Amino acid sequence: MHARFSQKTLSIARALIESVHDGMYIADHEGFYIMANEAFERITGINRQEMVGRHTQYMIENSWVPRAVNLEVIQDFQTRSRLVLYPSGRQLLVTAAMLWRDNGIPAAVVSTLRDLTELNLISEELKNSQVMIERFKKRIEYLEETLGSTNKFFIGQSTDFRRTLTMAKKVAGSDATIMITGPSGVGKDVLAQFIHYQSRRKNSGSFVKIDCAALPANLLESELFGYDKGAFTDARTQGKQGMFERANGGTLFLDEIGEFPFELQPKLLNVLQDRQIKHLGGLATIPIDVRIIAATNMNLEQMVRERKFREDLYYRLNVIPMFIPPLRERREDILPMIKHFLKIYNQNYNTGKFLSIEALNALMNYDWPGNVREVRNTIERMVVTSADDVITRHDLPGEIRKAYRLDTPASSYPVGPLKEALDTLERELIRKALESSPTLAEAARILQIDLSTLTRKNKKYGLTGHKTHPLNIY
Ligand SMILES: Nc1ncnc2c1ncn2[C@@H]1O[C@H](COP(=O)(O)OP(=O)(O)O)[C@@H](O)[C@H]1O
Ligand SMILES: [Mg+2]
Repeated sequence: MHARFSQKTLSIARALIESVHDGMYIADHEGFYIMANEAFERITGINRQEMVGRHTQYMIENSWVPRAVNLEVIQDFQTRSRLVLYPSGRQLLVTAAMLWRDNGIPAAVVSTLRDLTELNLISEELKNSQVMIERFKKRIEYLEETLGSTNKFFIGQSTDFRRTLTMAKKVAGSDATIMITGPSGVGKDVLAQFIHYQSRRKNSGSFVKIDCAALPANLLESELFGYDKGAFTDARTQGKQGMFERANGGTLFLDEIGEFPFELQPKLLNVLQDRQIKHLGGLATIPIDVRIIAATNMNLEQMVRERKFREDLYYRLNVIPMFIPPLRERREDILPMIKHFLKIYNQNYNTGKFLSIEALNALMNYDWPGNVREVRNTIERMVVTSADDVITRHDLPGEIRKAYRLDTPASSYPVGPLKEALDTLERELIRKALESSPTLAEAARILQIDLSTLTRKNKKYGLTGHKTHPLNIY
């Protein structure tokens, strides 16, 4: 086929270039095409049979190709790459290199064509998804700020609660150490997390919690500071990062700080002062950028007076004190919490339970010694165990029933919020009407309201709107 190459050489070359994914062609040292592979045809749309034997210049003159890199290589023998837009609409990276014979005489130019069209598409898509990610991020931030973390999961409307919230948002902007006090179950953990997620640190690090009461002093120490390989006699022990490192850039929450071992307190004080740690058994100092939040239900001041807690550490921790009062001192928060947990557990257990007026009143007048945690547990238990859709006084835990003396007649119940009571009553009446009527229209007639009103109210109260039969299981 081509005088300068033996048939054998040509068939080896043909097999070789045929196996390549990129487009490829070979032209001789004068610019005459010798061969091209199938990928070349696919990418350029040029019929290789028509091309072979022709000169590159002919291809350009007939607009088969816009430019021929192999001709440029012939000029100075330099390998080069060019971006070429082919008539097929594809953008190709063409690389051409001289092939030499053993005796140093130029033999041919090999050109490869890499299709960048696909790559461009992918990078275009990548750009698009980056734009989308940015948009979602903004949206999430917005939701977090408006409803998310504030209204949806951190519940309360009392003056006390709102003051705490305002304070939390304010201090979130600083790195100052915070001490949260308050009885068990009031939401100290929740508040600590809230502050972290309100702060810039939510983007630069994690919220890490350690329960200082849960571990004996030596374990607590290694958990906090980490250790190097071989720090303990146990030969298997690999090194481990401590909590301070894991919280780096973020927030370290020292829960139950009142239980922090006395003998370990000077070491904690040092970290707070120097902002650096050393692994147990390690020599290197590791700088730490951590926001500290501590919490306790103990009276630390008194412990300091009794020399059970180090005074210097106390003052280091107590930079911004925040107190969460017990629920009975902010009764306005009880109702929103009941509603919140009822909704949550109805969702979790796929139920539509609601409270009778009596039950609601009893819950609202209870003192909740276990605070929010007790509210949460009580509601969950009642949602799970009440036999009927309506949770009555019989479903209440004994201590709450006792506290409220539920045997008193309704007329002597303490005053509660009117709207809640009316809603509950309305729901109960509608449910009964639905139960005793074969059709929605019949129920509406009994209640003497429009069918559309009934449908709307059904939706509001999560009632099915179908006739409910005693045998129906839901
Ligand atoms: N203001 C609140 N809004 C919603 N849930 C709360 C609130 N305060 C506490 N909780 C819930 O009550 C329970 C106890 O809260 P937690 O923060 O662990 O209390 P503490 O750390 O003070 O003992 C948790 O399940 C928490 O989610
Ligand atoms: Mg706690």
